[in-house]
Amino acid sequence: MALVVACACSGAFGAGSGLQPHAFAQDEQQASESQSVWDGIYTEEQAKRGEALYQKDCSTCHGGRLNGTGEAPALSGGNFLSNWNGLTVGDLFERIRKTMPQDKPGRVTPREKADVLAYILSFNKFPAGKSELRHQSEWLKQIQFEESRPESEKPSQP
Ligand code: HEC
Repeated sequence: MALVVACACSGAFGAGSGLQPHAFAQDEQQASESQSVWDGIYTEEQAKRGEALYQKDCSTCHGGRLNGTGEAPALSGGNFLSNWNGLTVGDLFERIRKTMPQDKPGRVTPREKADVLAYILSFNKFPAGKSELRHQSEWLKQIQFEESRPESEKPSQP
């Protein structure tokens, strides 16, 4: 398999910010570029489907605006984001897949849970993209959950 060698190196190394060229350690199984929630990992349409499912299956406990209720925590905002910061989208998905809805986790299929997760991401202002969020944890575990947009992905100059 031909590796795509044309990477974004020039930009990154030109910045002189002491970045390690770790991307060159070609760890076969890993995607060569790590993805994050900032890379447009779900579609708007999917989030729309997820919204309907959320309202049906999650809102009674987590609140209509993902703001939490007496018992269940908010799924948006500062606390939620810092809870998951540094973990992966797969970790969050697994949490939902195995334990939610708390009263009967099997009521919602993994595919539907991916849609709900897309809605949660969209509600938290992570950007939508061109392909849908999948429901395979191995794949989702390669996507970093980062509370704020990584420096390297910010436009270089205003
Ligand atoms: C019957 C009430 C109930 C329902 C319905 C429910 N949850 Fe929860 N959820 C909870 C409670 C209570 C907690 C915190 C205690 C726990 O972890 O079990 C929680 C925790 C969570 C967490 C972890 C939050 C964090 O930051 O640690 C996530 C994510 C989550 N729920 C997502 C969902 C999703 C998505 C749905 C719908 C598919 C859903 N929940 C439906 C009660 C519920």
